[in-house]
This record gives sequence, C-alpha cells and structure tokens, in this order.
Amino acid sequence: MQIHPDIPELRDALRKLRAGSGLAMPRSVGFVPTMGALHMGHRSLVQAARRHCDIVIASIFVNPTQFAPNEDFSRYPRTLEQDCQMLEAEGVDLVFTPTADAMYPPGASTFVDVEGVSDRLDGASRPGHFRGVATVVAKLFHIAQPDFAFFGQKDAAQVAVLRKMVRDLDFLVEIIVCPTVREPDGLAMSSRNRYLSAEERRQALALSRALQAAQTQAARGEHRAAALQETMRATLQKEPALRVDYVAVVDPDTLLPVDDVRAGALLAVAAYVGSTRLIDNVLLAATTGNTGVPGKKKS
Ligand code: PAJ
Repeated sequence: MQIHPDIPELRDALRKLRAGSGLAMPRSVGFVPTMGALHMGHRSLVQAARRHCDIVIASIFVNPTQFAPNEDFSRYPRTLEQDCQMLEAEGVDLVFTPTADAMYPPGASTFVDVEGVSDRLDGASRPGHFRGVATVVAKLFHIAQPDFAFFGQKDAAQVAVLRKMVRDLDFLVEIIVCPTVREPDGLAMSSRNRYLSAEERRQALALSRALQAAQTQAARGEHRAAALQETMRATLQKEPALRVDYVAVVDPDTLLPVDDVRAGALLAVAAYVGSTRLIDNVLLAATTGNTGVPGKKKS
C-alpha cells in the first residue's frame, strides 16, 4: 500500500496503477474519502470498494472548511498509524493523506455551494458545513478521478448534497451508498463516539431507539409523518440529558419535509449528548402497491 501526502505524487502513482499490466480493459478506481479515526463503518466502505473495483484509494483528511470555529476540528481524533494498518489489511492500494496547505494553498477562494439542500438538516444546524464538504469532495474527486465513490448512509444529508453536486456539475463518478454499521446495541458507529463517557454512551442509545420505534410503527401501517416524528421525539425525551437538535421526516433527495411516508422517506435525528453532537437515520422504503392516494393502486 502506498501512502501519498502530495497531490502530484498521488496522481502519478494512480496513473501507473491505472495503466496496470497493459490490458485493454481500463481498470476501475474506487474511492473512499474519510477524515480518519477509522472504525467498522469506514471499513465496510473500503470492503465494498474492494469488491467493486480494481484499484482502491482512500483519503484521510480532517477537512478544516467543514468545521465551524466553535466545533471540534482541533480535538478531532487523529489516529493515522492505526488507520493505515486497517486500510492495508483491507487491501487498499493508495492512501492520500494531504496537509491542509496542500488542499487549500494560500489564496484559494473557490468553493462549491449546493444551494437549498445544503441548508437542511445538519446544514441548518451547522451553517457552511456542506459548503466545506462539497468543496473538499469536489477537489478529492478531481485528484483521485474515481469511477465509483463510496459513502455511508449514516450521513444521509451529506449523501443528498453530494449526489446533487455530482448531477449538477456532471462529475463522471457513481456514488455508492453503503448501509450504516452499528454497535451490537444499535448505536451507529462514529469517530465521535470516542468522545462519550460511559454514561453518555448509554444516553446516546436513545437516537437509534427513537428511529427503531418509528420504523416499527411505520411497518405496522402508520404513514403520517407527524405521528412518526412524535414517536421519535417522545423516545428521545425519555433521556432528559439529551439535547435534541432535529427530528425530521423528509424526502431523502431534497431533504424537504414530507407529510406521508408511503412514497418512501428518511427518518433522521440529531442530538447533543453532553457536548458531542450525534446523528442517525433510517430510510423507509416506498410501500409497494400503495400510491398514498386512497382507492388508487400503483400500476
Ligand atoms: P467521516 O466522518 O470520516 O466519514 C467517512 C465516510 O464514512 C462517510 O461516507 C460516512 O458516511 C461513512 N461512515 C461513517 N460512519 C459510518 C457508519 N457507522 N456506517 C457506515 N458508514 C459510515 O464524512 C466524512 O468523513 C467527511 O465529511 C468527508 C466525506 C470525508 C469529507 O471531508
């Protein structure tokens, strides 16, 4: 496995790998962007990339532009050595580990703004966050030139923003979304879970519990978003130390609220446990054979 902090060296190594053994078939490149502090959620993305693609690139870069000044950029966990060990064990070919100066040379002033969707859910709570995400991912796509890029459902709003960016700007990359990997008790894996004390770790379970309760209710036939939202809120409120940021039932592409979930919906929650902000979500599939319009069946 090669580790490259510099853009020209990474590009050069990638060009050589792509040329491969000189076979006529072009070799496909799969890309997994990360901020490091890797866990089983990241690992599942790398494994999917390894299954799908001939060449796998991962990046590790704690991107300063997606953190607000009051957020956890400076204390975000940095575990480069262990991260590289995991990536090597999973058969990654190239790891890109740029410095902030390499990614944002002095005077850089071009940004990618995916308007509308970037202001919803986490974008509403973290103004400017998705501008930072879209800009760095656009840059990483230009550098790695992947055919496929792998993202986690865990960050559902990020997926909506990046899918729209790829469509709007004609990036030649297919986004593949992998399921959220959870701890055995349901907590969605996150690099930020390591901030939690034992008591906060217990309180954090309310997020997945709230989603689970609403999902069960929907499976039993409840299709009103307001009722599902109420269930999630009530479950979260049973943990009084938790500070709810949002409880949402939205369209997974636009992130706009829906009234009825029969056409499919994203259930999403965000809450502060102590000073740590956690997010989680589940996707409800469209109810087959049901249009949401009484008396009308889907053809
Ligand atoms: P990071 O938080 O490191 O996450 C990297 C990728 O791992 C994202 O696609 C995220 O959705 C996925 N991921 C995180 N936890 C997961 C879990 N429990 N199950 C499945 N996938 C999970 O997301 C970012 O970094 C950054 O915003 C980035 C895209 C790298 C841009 O800086």
